[in-house]
Amino acid sequence: MEVPMPNIPVHADNAVVWHDEHLYLLDQRILPLQTEFIRLTTVEEVANAIRDMVVRGAPAIGVTAAFGVVVAARNAWENKGARWKSAIAADLSTLAASRPTAVNLFWALDRMQKVIAEMGAENPAPRLLAEAQAIHKEDVAANRCLGDLGAELITEPTSVITHCNAGALATGGYGTALGVIRSAFAVGKIQRVYADETRPWLQGSRLTAWELNQDNIPVTLLIDGAAASLMARGGIGWVIVGSDRIAANGDVANKIGTYGLAVAAKHHGVKVMVAAPTSTVDMSVATGADIPIEERDAAEVLNCGGKQLGASGVDAWNPVFDVTPASLVDAIVTEMGVVLQPSSEKMANLMAR
Ligand code: MRU
Repeated sequence: MEVPMPNIPVHADNAVVWHDEHLYLLDQRILPLQTEFIRLTTVEEVANAIRDMVVRGAPAIGVTAAFGVVVAARNAWENKGARWKSAIAADLSTLAASRPTAVNLFWALDRMQKVIAEMGAENPAPRLLAEAQAIHKEDVAANRCLGDLGAELITEPTSVITHCNAGALATGGYGTALGVIRSAFAVGKIQRVYADETRPWLQGSRLTAWELNQDNIPVTLLIDGAAASLMARGGIGWVIVGSDRIAANGDVANKIGTYGLAVAAKHHGVKVMVAAPTSTVDMSVATGADIPIEERDAAEVLNCGGKQLGASGVDAWNPVFDVTPASLVDAIVTEMGVVLQPSSEKMANLMAR
């Protein structure tokens, strides 16, 4: 069925929207050349949208999954009435199986599950919708807070490098790494942002540059391999990135290439800031070695923009995240506070607040 375009402003802050009783996602696979919202009406559609990168970025995946539970509950209520709970466990598993690395997905599903556990045979949709909307709102508030905290760490006007997209599009709104950059730019501390293009999905060129442009923040695109040379020339104060999962010792899983960027930053005396809400911290994994790293289809590397680039018959390895050891991170910035030179003890103190 053809769905008319919803009346939602096209802006990075509107990547995940509950509008007119429906879940809409701004399709991040086709940005920036096309701007389209997709309406999702089944839990399978929501799980596929996460798997297929219609929505991506750890906090945005969590918020979407929370609304996915609302969609699931509404359908279960329509089909099974008071026996709605019998269908919901499988739906939660469908959502949980969509992507493995971003812990925000599992964090959001756990939170929705706790509400489900408290409910009886009543229609679950209103209460679950309120919880999903709270998760969404809290994420935006956390990003604004950590954005300001991260900006305080930048002591003088400088240029920065970011990798992948940790902006409004990747969150409930405002962004994590780009939240820090937005807050810092507002007080005159950001001269220019260099955005790694981020092969193979090109989140840097397609999404980060688009977002920064929308905010009139000066941005220059880099091929991923140019970042170390740029640091060697000087003028870069910080590498600022987001995260998909932070282990109990402060190791950071983020988009493939972050580790290499952090190694280069260490060599050149450039500081590394990881900006993430505490929903990204997973105290149940001791170190980064325990974080499941998603590997996607080799075709994503062998093709670009729908065109085959690699020779036929050639294989490719496509891990989409890597782990940066805590020793290469200068600051982890969350809405609950900043951890400098992260360690297990400091992370435990943060999470006990
Ligand atoms: O594969 P993606 O696009 O979901 O990867 C996203 C990232 O690696 C982001 O840096 C991370 O999720 C933090 S988003 C605030």
